[in-house]
Amino acid sequence: MKKNFLTTLKIPLFYYIESYGCQMNISDTEIIISILSKNGFLLTNNLKKAHIILLNTCAIRKKAEISIKNRLDHLRYLKSKNQKIPLFGILGCLSTSIEYSNLIDFSIGPNSYRKIPDIIRLVMMNDEKKINHILLSENKNETYENISPSPYKKKITTFLSITRGCDNMCTFCIVPFTRGRERSSNPYSIIKECENLYEKGYKEVTLLGQNVDSYLWFGGGFKKQIKINKNNEKIIDFSKLLDLIASKLPFMRIRFSTSNPHDMSDRVIEVISKHSNICKHIHLPVQSGSNKILKLMNRKYTREKYISLIQKIRSIIPECSISHDMITGFCHEEEEDHLETISLMNEVKYDYGYMFSYSPRPRTYAYKKLKDNVPEHVKKRRLKEIIDLQRIHSIFRIKKYLGTIQEVLIEGESKKNNQDWYGRNTQNFVVVFPKKLSKIGESVFVRIIDYTSATLIGKLE
Ligand code: SAH
Ligand code: F3S
Repeated sequence: MKKNFLTTLKIPLFYYIESYGCQMNISDTEIIISILSKNGFLLTNNLKKAHIILLNTCAIRKKAEISIKNRLDHLRYLKSKNQKIPLFGILGCLSTSIEYSNLIDFSIGPNSYRKIPDIIRLVMMNDEKKINHILLSENKNETYENISPSPYKKKITTFLSITRGCDNMCTFCIVPFTRGRERSSNPYSIIKECENLYEKGYKEVTLLGQNVDSYLWFGGGFKKQIKINKNNEKIIDFSKLLDLIASKLPFMRIRFSTSNPHDMSDRVIEVISKHSNICKHIHLPVQSGSNKILKLMNRKYTREKYISLIQKIRSIIPECSISHDMITGFCHEEEEDHLETISLMNEVKYDYGYMFSYSPRPRTYAYKKLKDNVPEHVKKRRLKEIIDLQRIHSIFRIKKYLGTIQEVLIEGESKKNNQDWYGRNTQNFVVVFPKKLSKIGESVFVRIIDYTSATLIGKLE
């Protein structure tokens, strides 16, 4: 560990933080900000002023890893011009794998954020022994209970993690290795935190988890270690939690993400339909339309089961929008598997989706045991085909809103025109419209007069 100029500095210390990847990382960054501010560190968005630079990283695909490494190089270059050498810390999912140890001063994984202030102080004192001791004592059960997230700037909508880690072991996915085993937060602290958020002026909360539908509170700990009697009245599953939050906070909009199709129960669908404040949108990643590939991915459902789940959702909540994640070019994906994916998309006609080409990730089953045998150009061509198809489906879905009146929560100013607001309807479509006298945080009725493949354009009613 190198000596740095911080050893000569007194507090307050300024830190700069960037966040990459999923919504959960954004939410984690808000937890990190909360922990650091309570410990006297000051947030700055001026890189030149920062004594500590933190990158909250994502490891999900190779591309994410490369862009973070490039960013780290660039930040170091900018800082070196500025003479002072600050501390560089890598947080999040890349913390265990980044091969840049000579360029960073410390790395802290997703279960150890409470220790950041101590680690920074010890790094400043070059106390390697104590640092290693702290890092080795990772709390695998961490849910960050009683830490209220602090956002970078005042917002109307926010995220709240209700489960951490994942037990599903999809064969392509690095998350179970970077974030650990699945555990659920205490429902009473979740409800309290939602009440806090409402009192602070938030109008919408998105409950987050890698797999929110498998939320289960039975007193804490890991699910797989004990025998759970699901008929036990005291046990709270995701449907009960949603029901409790929606009833307690009738004026708060509630969203959730992500739902693994394998774990979504009928009760959850019924609770969504029962409460007008639970948004009518479900993100239901499918990953492939081929049963052969789903099996190789260890997704634990078949194409037929997935389609019947969608039919159930649409029969109980006809207005519900459905989005997806899809991977092209997974190991052994042949042309007929790809055509199965296309036929599934044609059958479901998703409202929108996130599509990726497969990239092998270290430590996963697929990385170790399956051949990454679809050539890069084939992966890319298949990806383009499904992106083009999704665009057609998105237009098919979005144009149905033309002429309708949508209730929209105003979230902020449109990036394209400062005379317009943007917000979202319950189906999670972005709606842009002239401001007139309306204000951020208000729910307003907007008549839809035009659309693009991803945005509704309207005017206030
Ligand atoms: N828990 C979420 C997934 C989180 S990762 C779920 O169950 O859906 C977000 C998305 O990244 C995944 O749904 C998948 O489509 C994609 N993804 C994950 N690992 C990938 C990999 N190795 N290569 C390409 N895409 C991947
Ligand atoms: Fe990853 Fe599958 Fe869990 S995609 S986060 S292992 S549900």
